[in-house]
Amino acid sequence: MIVITGASGNIGSKIATNLLSQGQGIRCVARTEGKLKELEGKGAEIAAGSLDDIAFLTKAFGDADAVFAMIPPNYMASDFRAYQNIVGASIAEAIEKASVKYIVNLSSQGADLPDKTGPIKGLHDQEERLNRLKDANILHIRPTYFMENLLASVEMIKKMNIIGSALRGDMQFPMIATKDIALFASERLLKRDFTGILVRDLLGQRDISITEIAEIIGSKIDKPDLKYLQFSYEDTKQALVGMGLSEDVSRLIIEMSTAINERLIMNTPRTKENTSETSFEDFAEIFIRLIKA
Ligand SMILES: NC(=O)c1ccc[n+]([C@@H]2O[C@H](COP(=O)([O-])OP(=O)(O)OC[C@H]3O[C@@H](n4cnc5c(N)ncnc54)[C@H](OP(=O)(O)O)[C@@H]3O)[C@@H](O)[C@H]2O)c1
Repeated sequence: MIVITGASGNIGSKIATNLLSQGQGIRCVARTEGKLKELEGKGAEIAAGSLDDIAFLTKAFGDADAVFAMIPPNYMASDFRAYQNIVGASIAEAIEKASVKYIVNLSSQGADLPDKTGPIKGLHDQEERLNRLKDANILHIRPTYFMENLLASVEMIKKMNIIGSALRGDMQFPMIATKDIALFASERLLKRDFTGILVRDLLGQRDISITEIAEIIGSKIDKPDLKYLQFSYEDTKQALVGMGLSEDVSRLIIEMSTAINERLIMNTPRTKENTSETSFEDFAEIFIRLIKA
């Protein structure tokens, strides 16, 4: 049995589908039962509940040979670091109580740093928390910036013909499709070919700038004049708050954007091992459906 947290999310749902296609028994964890029904229909067990509920999680991890563990985003949290600590501690305690031997932990580029990385600091702390567990083999996967983050720009593209964020437009940095993360995690969960504590960087197909990304999307949707615009940190923060994110989460996103712009993070050297297949050109097909819909 393999247990997947965040199983209706970007990565979890893809891991679940991969493992089901291999005939692997899985249990899918998320709060909203309705979003897990499709996986249940394909043969998964489902466990609806919250990751901060230690008793629920210990039961869900009960007979697990391996767990895919993640701290999901909570954009409304008034104190995001406190939220990450509660969920992170709950996951660690449930792993210990259920004596799970193999953990693939979703971390991030930048989790090697103790500070100045916004929400990633919580993942640094979670790596350390899990490293203190006895008798568990732990693989921390540290993916780079998700291509899926760009999907938040769909309305801006439709209404204003721009993509905008606080990130520098000219700077190439690694970007990954969540399908590549899920593929790597699925293989490790199935093979359980890691011992002790290991870290694995996942950098996607190549480094790319958001200016290049705007050109690629523009060419796919017949908007060759689609432009990338870098917003100031303050304007971006106000926009995030306006979209309903908490002050604290918005502040942390700006801290992370600053860390990316100043190359404090996402500067891991690229190798064959940390490079994967999906190009932004392939991923961008999704924009055709979303924008022309
Ligand atoms: N975005 C990036 O560029 C980036 C880069 C590196 C690492 N990361 C990491 O990746 C994570 C996001 O992964 P993702 O995109 O796959 O997530 P996602 O699509 O946002 O999915 C979150 C999943 O967690 C579940 N969930 C949320 N809160 C929960 C709770 N309290 N208890 C139980 N389940 C809960 C959700 O379902 P319900 O809402 O129904 O519960 C959903 O299944 C981030 O949190 C970050 O740690 C992100």
